[in-house]
Parts: sequence; structure tokens; C-alpha cells
Amino acid sequence: MAMLAVIGGTGLSSLNGFSDPQSVSMATPFADAEVQVEKFIVHGEPLVFIARHGAQHTTPPHKVNYRANIWALKELGVTGVIAINAVGGIDQKMAPGVFMIPHQLIDYTYGREHTFFTGGQEQVTHIDFTDPFAPPMRELIRQAGTRANTDLSTNRVLVDGGVYGVTQGPRLETAAEVKKLQRDGCDIVGMTAMPEAALARELALPYASLALSVNWAAGLTDKEISLDEIRVVVSEGMEYVIALIEQAVLLNASVGSTGGSN
Ligand code: HPA
Repeated sequence: MAMLAVIGGTGLSSLNGFSDPQSVSMATPFADAEVQVEKFIVHGEPLVFIARHGAQHTTPPHKVNYRANIWALKELGVTGVIAINAVGGIDQKMAPGVFMIPHQLIDYTYGREHTFFTGGQEQVTHIDFTDPFAPPMRELIRQAGTRANTDLSTNRVLVDGGVYGVTQGPRLETAAEVKKLQRDGCDIVGMTAMPEAALARELALPYASLALSVNWAAGLTDKEISLDEIRVVVSEGMEYVIALIEQAVLLNASVGSTGGSN
């Protein structure tokens, strides 16, 4: 049976739109702390949720135990992952409040536990990562996004494709760093898509990102980046995210599995 999972980012520490979660704690080889997972039934279909930064949003991007989270999802039999990411907009299209389904990424992070293949027992494995986000999952998000707009009578912009630059954080970038990201071809900048996307690929879990621009990246406007303004954009965007997830669950059930393709 197809089973979607959502990894919630900033602004999505719980799935308030759905009721009666079953909370499950899962032990993994990667941490003493167990991974907290919530399981929902949405229109008769299973949906799994993990809050990337913890239920109280206390784990910064560089301290997230990405391996434990992805491992737990695989153990549960999840067949597709939608990652929700708050990002800064770099491309002109990516004003605060605009969503993107990125098709590429550039990894600028360092010092994170970024692979399940740590040497020793297993054969050295080099995953193909040409397309870091699974095309079938991206298509699922795109279609669900269109239906969510119909459902809510909204007109949220969902940009199909773009390059996500993943920085280390937790600080935001300097203006010069954003110029460099721009020269590198990044359309958005965030801190959480890596190593998450690569770990999902290592375990053959189809994975894609729904990124919400919550601010213009550093130096692109005259103003300092305001956390209060970010909070407003995030909370305004979450109704659409919840509606999109609901539609994704329905679509995913109607197409069966997402095809098993990465
Ligand atoms: N940069 C990096 N990560 C972010 C940003 C940003 O401007 N906004 C939200 N997450």
C-alpha cells in the first residue's frame, strides 16, 4: 500500500489539520533519542508525519538527526516523502509567500552526518543523485498544489522547478554569500534539504521538497530580514500546505504507489 510521509519544517511542527494522530516512538541505530512519529488516517489512507526540528521546534538545522528520521520512515514502510522547507527567495519569482517544487540542489553544508554508508560492513555505494528530487513525487506535489488552490479558492503560486542552495546555518547568509549563490544559479536558499534528500535516495525512498519562500534572501532588499515578518508568511502559508498534503494523500491513493522510482 502506498504510504506518504511528510517531514514538517519551520511552521509545521504538527499536522493540526488532521485529527486523532497515533504517536509512535521509534528507536534507530543513529541516536539514543527515539524518533517521534505521528501516524494519521486521512480519508482512509495512512499518512506519517515527523517534525524535523522537534515538536517544540528546538533542533536547529545542523543538529537535526536526518539519518534517524529517514531511517524511521523507511522502517515504517513509507513509499514517498514530501519535505516542507522554509527558504529565502533569490530568483525574482520567489517573493515571500511563493512556493517552489525545486528540481535541483547545491549542497553547501558541512559537518553533518550525510550518509548511511560509513564504511566497514557494507560495500561502498555511490548513489546516482543527478536528479536529487524524485520526479514522480514532484509531479504529485504539483497536482496536489493545483487541487489545493481549487479546494481553498486561493491562487497560491507554486513554481515548478528551481535550484535550492542548501546552507549550513543556523545564521542567515551575508549579502555577498547570496550574490555567490545567485551566480551559482540558486533560486532559493534554505538549510534543511541536505543531507535529507541524499539519505532518502540512499534508502531508495522517493523524496521531493515543497519549499515556501518566507523572506527575500539577504541583501536583495534594503531591509534587514525580520523574523516577525517570516512568522507571518509561514503561518499564512500553512493552510495551503495542509490542503496540499490532503490532496497529495488522495492522489497518491488513486495512483497506487508513486511508482517506486526515485
Ligand atoms: N536563508 C537560509 N535559510 C532560510 C532563509 C534564508 O534566507 N529563510 C528561511 N530559511
